[in-house]
Amino acid sequence: MHPSNAPLPPTLVVIPTYDEREALPGTLARLRAAVPAADVLVVDDSSPDGTGEWAEAAAAEDPSVHVLHREGKQGLGPAYLAGFAWGLERGYRQLAEMDADASHRPEQLPRLLEAVRRGADLAIGSRWVPRGSVHDWPLRRLLLSRGANLYVRALLGLGVSDATAGFRLFRAELLEQLIAEDIASQGYCFQIDMTRRSRDLGAAIAEVPIDFDERTEGTSKMSSAIVREALVKVTSWGLSRRVQGLRKALR
Ligand code: GDD
Ligand code: MN
Repeated sequence: MHPSNAPLPPTLVVIPTYDEREALPGTLARLRAAVPAADVLVVDDSSPDGTGEWAEAAAAEDPSVHVLHREGKQGLGPAYLAGFAWGLERGYRQLAEMDADASHRPEQLPRLLEAVRRGADLAIGSRWVPRGSVHDWPLRRLLLSRGANLYVRALLGLGVSDATAGFRLFRAELLEQLIAEDIASQGYCFQIDMTRRSRDLGAAIAEVPIDFDERTEGTSKMSSAIVREALVKVTSWGLSRRVQGLRKALR
């Protein structure tokens, strides 16, 4: 825990992008204004719409902005893992996840920073805790997110209301342990995977309420394949958890 008036520890906000040319400029401007002491890494998977080229131009103007280009669309999970490895190699002491489409309000990043300052190893910006909220999301997405999180709680008992959230801040010490493991989740179950592994490592996880706004630019990359991957993985994690529990009970 460092005092509230201490300078921000070296902080990196990782923003994965795929076809975010319309949304990224506004999000980046808001983020740079909201937390100017934080650096930013855009992890672009060869977006056909020129997101990576735009981000390079932004980085040429602003030494706090960096870009990691990757070949082809490889999924949210691998993009974050590449961004985290890049940041840890460069000595950042806390690393954040944020969507490029301003669904997460950059002005609310300080809430996550404060939770980690107070001792959390992982701060989750949660839509489903008191004072958390979602705005303008279609009903099917609301139901999907609520349903997924109820399923995760029932199967994995993580004690977290929003295990699929994509607005987070990790302490580097925790992240170094996490990325040393073999995290194979491609899509959004990456978020669930990182939550359950953090819990298994005994990390202090704090949920802070945030306001999630449906994007106004570009389109969501959510797909049925991503939902299927999450369903299969959460079910298998849940079953192996039960088998482990049974083995312990029979010893
Ligand atoms: N580099 C890269 N590669 N970035 C990707 C990829 C990919 O394959 N797929 C998605 N992204 C980026 C998007 O460009 C965006 O910045 C972020 O990941 C989230 O993608 P969205 O398409 O905006 O996700 P969503 O708003 O539908 O889903 C929200 O809810 C999920 C489940 O609760 C997001 O907040 C997710 O982060 C969250 O996990
Ligand atoms: Mn989004």
